[in-house]
Amino acid sequence: MSDKKSSNQSWGGRFSEPTDAFVARFTASVNFDQRLYKQDIEGSQAHAAMLTQVGILNEQEHQQIKTGLDEILNDIETGIFQWSVELEDVHMNIEAALTAKIGVTGKKLHTGRSRNDQVATDIRLWLRSEITTIQRELHRLQEGLLFIAEREASTIMPGFTHLQTAQPVTFGHHLLAWYEMLARDQGRLADCKKRLNQSPLGSAALAGTTYPIDRAYTAKLLGFEGPTANSLDSVSDRDFAIEFCAFASLLMTHLSRASEELVLWASAQFDFIDLPDRFCTGSSIMPQKKNPDVPELVRGKTGRTHGHLISLLTLMKSQPLAYNKDNQEDKEPLFDCVDTVRDCLRAFADMVPAITAKKDNMYQAAQRGFSTATDLADYLVGKDVAFRDAHEIVGSAVAYGIKTGKDLSEMSIDELQKFGGMITADVFDVLTLEGSVAARNHIGGTAPKQVTFAVARARQQLANQVTTF
Ligand code: ARG
Repeated sequence: MSDKKSSNQSWGGRFSEPTDAFVARFTASVNFDQRLYKQDIEGSQAHAAMLTQVGILNEQEHQQIKTGLDEILNDIETGIFQWSVELEDVHMNIEAALTAKIGVTGKKLHTGRSRNDQVATDIRLWLRSEITTIQRELHRLQEGLLFIAEREASTIMPGFTHLQTAQPVTFGHHLLAWYEMLARDQGRLADCKKRLNQSPLGSAALAGTTYPIDRAYTAKLLGFEGPTANSLDSVSDRDFAIEFCAFASLLMTHLSRASEELVLWASAQFDFIDLPDRFCTGSSIMPQKKNPDVPELVRGKTGRTHGHLISLLTLMKSQPLAYNKDNQEDKEPLFDCVDTVRDCLRAFADMVPAITAKKDNMYQAAQRGFSTATDLADYLVGKDVAFRDAHEIVGSAVAYGIKTGKDLSEMSIDELQKFGGMITADVFDVLTLEGSVAARNHIGGTAPKQVTFAVARARQQLANQVTTF
């Protein structure tokens, strides 16, 4: 990239000295906004078609512009396009290249628009297409979760509160909890996409333009729902990018929670799951190590999206109407946020269906920690004991269990009857882990039957969802 010259052709007229070479570099965005080249050309093509439609350009001029822009697209994609810092940004680089190719007609393309509505259009087009990719990756992860949730519908593991054994749950049920978080994220993303899908093109610098433009026409050509309602708002607000980063932060928060559990479960202490070797790495010094790098890295990358959300909120805060150069700083956080979320989803969607459950270990862990204590209390309530009294009785039985090293299900009926005379042999039905989970048999409960129903319902939602991307 050359930056020897420091004057800028696009506004040279008003200036009596060239831009300082450092200032030119400092204010330039082309090093990162060239990523928008495709959308910039797409927007220009639509703008030129509209200018022709309303009689500002003639057919011949339109043809020249169209062919010139097609060639530039090709030059960029084949790597022969020369980006230059003194042309500041993607918009002016492409416009200058067009004029170099087709002469004076190239200079007519900017009639009735400004870089302010141009960039607002480009980012929306770009983000809209990235969102589609992310929707698909998220969908793939949702499918993967349903796949293992169904497979593990009756696999028993300890459920935790405060990371202390609480009650037995099914592994499928636990995975469906992750699924629900992601289903809400998918909904938030769809909302964000819908709201950003309005065309700012034609807002020009801030107030609109004196030319008889047809904003509905360009909106339609670019696949937007329609033109935005207010030109000042359209060129200035980046709330759609903030909304995306808010979605991303919540999604990454959810993935970080799942990651944390995967890391715990893969440890020798829990030993609940096996992550395939291809998602792990070894240690250069400790030969025995197999580290769960993918979930750890996803957990760590959450910091990026949270940071980008705060960056963009701070960028936008207190900005007076309308466009300010501050907004040039919207791109790098947004780009990295998109890349981070897309890659993390891809890694997760690849990894999740390949997780294997170490069912025996999960089962044994659920047997420790008196996880069926609540079931015993519920059983006593069934025998007409008030719940608070039942709680007291079970508490004493647990204390005895701790002292003698016995789980509730390992105590004899005589032992149990010492705590509550009303206990009879049918108690053992509720003290088993299977009985405990099967008894929570209502919508949203952990019973294997309910997990299977929930998977079927979720599959139905997923089938409808895919048609909306
Ligand atoms: N590179 C600029 C940006 O990303 C484009 C818009 C510049 N407009 C202006 N009036 N300086 O925001």
